[in-house]
Amino acid sequence: MATEPQKPEVMPFRSFRLSLRFIAPLALVLVLFAYVVVPLVGNMTLRWFTRDLDTRSQMLASALQEPLQEYVPQKSQRRITQLFDRSVQQDGRLYALAFCDPGGTLLYKTVAYPTAALGCHMAEEGRELRQTLVDLPEGKVHVTESPVNREAEYLGKLILVHDMSFIERRSSEAQKYVIALFALLAVVISLITVFVAHISWRGWIHAMKGILRRDVVTRSQANTPPELRPLVGDLRALLHEYNVERRVEEHSPQMWTPEKLRSLLHDELAGDEIIVVSNREPYIHHRTAEGVEVRRPASGLVTAVEPVMRACSGTWIAHGAGSADRETVDLNDRVAVPPKRPSYTLRRVWLSKEEEQGYYYGFANEGLWPLCHIAHVRPVFRTADWEYYVTVNQRFADAVIAEAHTDDPIVLVQDYHFALVPRMVREKLPRATIIMFWHIPWPNPESFGICPWREEILEGLLGSTLLGFHTPFHCKNFIETVDRYLETRIEHEASTITYGGDVTQVEPYPISIAWPEGDLPSIAECYRSVRHELGVGEKHLLALGVDRLDYTKGILERFQAVERMLEMHPALIGRFSLVQIAAPSRSSLDEYQNFESRVRMLAQRINKRFGSENYEPILLKIQHYESDQVVRYYRAAEVCVVTSLHDGMNLVAKEYIAAREDERGVLVLSQFTGAARELHEALIINPYHIEQGADALYRALTMPELEQRDRMRAMRSLVRDFNVYRWAGRMLLDAARLRRREQIRARIHAYNRKSLRRVV
Ligand code: G6P
Repeated sequence: MATEPQKPEVMPFRSFRLSLRFIAPLALVLVLFAYVVVPLVGNMTLRWFTRDLDTRSQMLASALQEPLQEYVPQKSQRRITQLFDRSVQQDGRLYALAFCDPGGTLLYKTVAYPTAALGCHMAEEGRELRQTLVDLPEGKVHVTESPVNREAEYLGKLILVHDMSFIERRSSEAQKYVIALFALLAVVISLITVFVAHISWRGWIHAMKGILRRDVVTRSQANTPPELRPLVGDLRALLHEYNVERRVEEHSPQMWTPEKLRSLLHDELAGDEIIVVSNREPYIHHRTAEGVEVRRPASGLVTAVEPVMRACSGTWIAHGAGSADRETVDLNDRVAVPPKRPSYTLRRVWLSKEEEQGYYYGFANEGLWPLCHIAHVRPVFRTADWEYYVTVNQRFADAVIAEAHTDDPIVLVQDYHFALVPRMVREKLPRATIIMFWHIPWPNPESFGICPWREEILEGLLGSTLLGFHTPFHCKNFIETVDRYLETRIEHEASTITYGGDVTQVEPYPISIAWPEGDLPSIAECYRSVRHELGVGEKHLLALGVDRLDYTKGILERFQAVERMLEMHPALIGRFSLVQIAAPSRSSLDEYQNFESRVRMLAQRINKRFGSENYEPILLKIQHYESDQVVRYYRAAEVCVVTSLHDGMNLVAKEYIAAREDERGVLVLSQFTGAARELHEALIINPYHIEQGADALYRALTMPELEQRDRMRAMRSLVRDFNVYRWAGRMLLDAARLRRREQIRARIHAYNRKSLRRVV
């Protein structure tokens, strides 16, 4: 239901209301004080003094009894007057005295006695002691009438008049004291309140901070003040909401472009130089019968990093593995790339056959690769391979140092081939900003513990300023591994690891692709020409797999899913094929050779079972396809199948989506890829479950157009916004922030040393 937009509250009115909350009770207290407490104090003091006067008068009257018993019968005017005058002089508060005979005649009195007003007062009313307050024009007086008897004979009545004006004075003095006391008390209580509030406030702030540090919450629950405990849940929910909002904002579709990345480099990193290090080079020169040919390798890493380098320029250091690589470099082993429109420098590093065998095939691809991709292939670790790995890492680190023009370059080290490079560079260039990105998964601590050089690998990586993984899960695995095998200080809240004085920030940065630009052949054209190329009919349904021929990609499971689908839906036999593009990879390794023959054999068996003279359900293409070719296949296939058994991200999934501007086509995606964490509208499957794969494939092939469009549209908008420039941009922004922090720290350090020297 739509709700009325709320009018913003008027600020002065709100602050007035707020002030009222404090002022109203204060005013109430003051009114109570003025109208109740102060008069009460006045009344009480009056009563106390009146009672005091009652007693004093009685005492004086009894003291005068005896002389009066003697003087009155003698009618001794002189002695009585003397007696009265002396009494008045001795008691400053006694105003006057008088004596009346039993008949009510005033016989004796002091001068001040108010005869007119009092006379013999109420003499006729009785012979007992009476005490009253009387208002005279001069003021209030206290009157005591005390009978004077000699034995049984009633002689008359003694009247004592006390001045009450001093009582009023005292009462107003008492009121003043009370007010002063109250004021003093108020000040003292306020000070105590402010002090206690300050202490509680600090305690709450401390506890709040504890609560807001999400991962510390459970630990600090016991330390949370009881009055704040009910808030813990709410605060956490709020924090979560805030984080989600912040992420949404951060991920706002403000497009990341090469220009934006360039200006970021310029503005945030002051045009500092960028050096990329990777094993695989972005352009490989090959000698063929027709001459030298340039190839783009099948590598997710290259797909992602190359557009970034085009945008940022700088130097890319990589292994020169092509047969014509040496012929195409200058004297410094450099070549400007891309060949058609050079925008950065490729610096090649040469490796001997033995080095390549030990470092690349051996330690990196027989050891670390299966170790990190838990895909049921055992890692193999040999000391000789490790030694080559160390040597080659040092070679690349030296190349970085040689290529750096400054002592604080930004170095982007890529992937598992160079775990030791960050520390090696850090040793020579302590001020460098080193960003290491690990393109493959990071396993749990137990699995990683298999590596005999696990501590060395971790130490090497912790030479980085920033260490990136595709997913938060891989970051968590890495931090837990470090925690298990190294003595470090880990700040979970800030996601930093401090080791030997160096701080490494560990963060997830999901990698992506550059959104395609420029002229592409139309979808209809691709649809037609690809089918023609494959020798299948115009309406033939196509699913597509594009991978390196690697055992982690789930290619066998994919074929089995096709087989199962054809068993369950025989109507598709002859009308559907899976095109599997498999770029040969690491082919000199046994594991890869075995895998290739298993792939070939399974394809053959399925083709034999369901195929015919003109029909193959699996069209296996074990060969290298250039990226423009692959795009044509993406645009021609009804379905793209990504069934990796374990994958850091898998960019094929994103490339397929980017290629489908017609918003048609369905992505079947393994739940074990980093991409599955972002592309929720794909058909997500467990590739190990063959029936699930078969069902998803069938569902994809028969999905209504509207549903295809809805899913594809959502995924396309995500990939367009979360492109590779954003991936690099976020890393570089974080690096710039850390770099600034480091520069300030270094300046403070230098300043402190200077001041210390001056003091000494
Ligand atoms: C994965 C790795 C990359 C590697 C690519 C191709 O994507 O993360 O570092 O370049 O595979 O493998 P290759 O061994 O041919 O370079």
